[in-house]
Amino acid sequence: MTLPAHAPNFAALPAAPWSSDHDETLRCVQVRQETHDVKTFVLAAAQPRSFRYLPGQFITLELDIAGTKVNRCYTLSSSPTRPDVVSITVKRVPGGLVSNWLHDNVQVGMSLGVMGPSGVFTCFEKPAKRYLFVSGGSGVTPLMSMTRALHDLASDADVVFVHCARTPADVLFAEELTLMARNMPKLRLAIVCENHTPGSSYAGHLGRLDGARLAHIAPDFMQRAVYTCGPAPFMGAVRTLLGAAGFDMQQYAEESFAFETLQAPTEQASPPATEPVASGVRSYTVQLQKTQQSFSCRENQTILQAASEAGVRLPSSCSSGACGTCKTQKLAGTVDMKHAGGIRQREVDQGWMLPCCSTPSSDVTLDR
Ligand code: FES
Repeated sequence: MTLPAHAPNFAALPAAPWSSDHDETLRCVQVRQETHDVKTFVLAAAQPRSFRYLPGQFITLELDIAGTKVNRCYTLSSSPTRPDVVSITVKRVPGGLVSNWLHDNVQVGMSLGVMGPSGVFTCFEKPAKRYLFVSGGSGVTPLMSMTRALHDLASDADVVFVHCARTPADVLFAEELTLMARNMPKLRLAIVCENHTPGSSYAGHLGRLDGARLAHIAPDFMQRAVYTCGPAPFMGAVRTLLGAAGFDMQQYAEESFAFETLQAPTEQASPPATEPVASGVRSYTVQLQKTQQSFSCRENQTILQAASEAGVRLPSSCSSGACGTCKTQKLAGTVDMKHAGGIRQREVDQGWMLPCCSTPSSDVTLDR
């Protein structure tokens, strides 16, 4: 038997933790075809490393696609209870730049730029007596990570896991979830498919998840902490049905990284409305070196918001300092940046910043 290069010495102390601050790439060590349009990519560090993260967190892939630098966040579908590798599970999005590139290009042995993990969507920081996990399509990934971790820890957590898919052929991780439910007496599964797949033996719920169906699956859903992940309209529908039932939204958390389907940066980055500028609020000038554009930015708004207000396009995805898509070199000036893991300290030290979560404290020049 040949051991993989990333295999740790199980008889010794755990391998050192992996950090994207020091080790910027991970190597693909396995590609799994999960369904007709979903693949799992298993990633490992070049040297044996231990991956420490909260179940439900995401990593940012830093890719070079046809000469263009692209960042994209993917939730880890793996569990930190199996710390020697991480995995992401990616659905092909029609017309999606990154998902199609990953499906068509990533093979075993290939190195990918990776940053993170980061994110706050996890049930591991807010214990509850009972959980309801609701996933739509490939939004199953963070909930899969949480369930795998609970399973591996022999947890007796009371979890109802509702996984919604378009058809039975699109259901992800059905066998593994069934296996985990066999080992976890309080894990109950419900699959809800919008449509039947001709010829399939599927006998689960058919149709959409609505209030009546949810009450049938989990009659006590009002007493559960709810974690939802899926496309934005799906999560909107879950919020609506919970709201209609009078659910306490303090017990609700959701996550979406369907960046492939987000609007153009200028649209999605738009501020809610142009607020009247309070007297005493300073404005600074933001200069874009390459495009020779400039716009004014108030001290209480992010540079991305001000750019959007001025009709200047800057790349962005999450608009919350998490993904790194907007990362830009600052050539002059000072900013106050409150990021959520989308940039390395080393990069900050070298003058990089994230316009989506930075407010100016002087005139600023960016390498854009
Ligand atoms: S847009 Fe994601 S970090 Fe700025």
